[in-house]
Amino acid sequence: MSEAVAIAHPNVALSKYWGKRAVGRFPAVPSLSVTLSGLTTRTRVRFDRALSEDRVVLNGAPGDDGARARAVDLLDRVRRAAGEKRRAAVDSSNDFPTASGLASSASGFAALALAAVRAAGLDWDIPRVSDLARRSSASAARSLFGGYVELDAAHPVPREDDILAARSIAPADQLPLLVLVCVTTEGPKAVGSTAGMATTMAKSPYATAWLEEAPRLHARLREALFAKDFEAVGELAESSALAMHASAIAAGVIYWTGATLDVLAAVRRLRDARVPVFASIDAGPHVKVLVRPQDASGVHAVMRATAGVRRVIESWPGQGARLEAAIGPVS
Ligand code: DP6
Repeated sequence: MSEAVAIAHPNVALSKYWGKRAVGRFPAVPSLSVTLSGLTTRTRVRFDRALSEDRVVLNGAPGDDGARARAVDLLDRVRRAAGEKRRAAVDSSNDFPTASGLASSASGFAALALAAVRAAGLDWDIPRVSDLARRSSASAARSLFGGYVELDAAHPVPREDDILAARSIAPADQLPLLVLVCVTTEGPKAVGSTAGMATTMAKSPYATAWLEEAPRLHARLREALFAKDFEAVGELAESSALAMHASAIAAGVIYWTGATLDVLAAVRRLRDARVPVFASIDAGPHVKVLVRPQDASGVHAVMRATAGVRRVIESWPGQGARLEAAIGPVS
């Protein structure tokens, strides 16, 4: 057997990726994220001669067909690169709700990519692992790195084998902030992000507006981050999330619930009371509230008391994916 265990964290995109090029899983817009400590995925991969097919267990239960197919696709890429013939057992667990817009695919595929590459004995550097993770879920490319991370838009007409990896652009302490993840449901989301962005690009009257606006917001956000300007970063992050969702909603892709709107209203009330606090929303109903460390406990209490918020997870800029253990090859 050869096995490795990797851990990875989700990331929240401050400037959002939403939309792909026509070929492969290549982003049509650049994105900038912060990797979140406080939420963790742990994944074990074991290549084992005794297995006749790949086994994928997610949070203690067999993965559904879709999740299994995506994991097998990644394992196949690794097997081809390593000349590995054995099937693998994958065991992955999250300490937060899976597939509900808390970016479980980002941490999940980042951890799977790193564990699979190392279990197969490949000595790929982290950018190469990031490119591998991107082929399963583009946001996962960013979770290989800690702190503030950027993923460029791909060439307009990419080739399937083009390498596109994320990169770290600033350390975790570049901008002190906390992300309060306001969890509004524990259940899985109805529309995954791959399908949601495909529908947006195909049907939204505002898809072109989003594709034009996203790089502009991204460039301004990048500058604000380098200037260590929390308020500008927060405002631009909220604008990116709202513009992304506006384009999606116009195509009927609606991730928000009443609780999402209640949290957005609470954020606005806090801003009216001069507390600098901003919201970001991914492909799900939860709201990630960006707050300065000194305001965190007061804002946490307000969010916790907001209708529809089931719990609030505090997270902060953290580390990229890393290996917990690698064993083998022993057979
Ligand atoms: C809203 O990376 O989950 O979280 O590449 O199709 O797997 P696929 O999509 P995914 O999309 C993430 C969308 C987002 C914004 C972001 O993380 O940039």
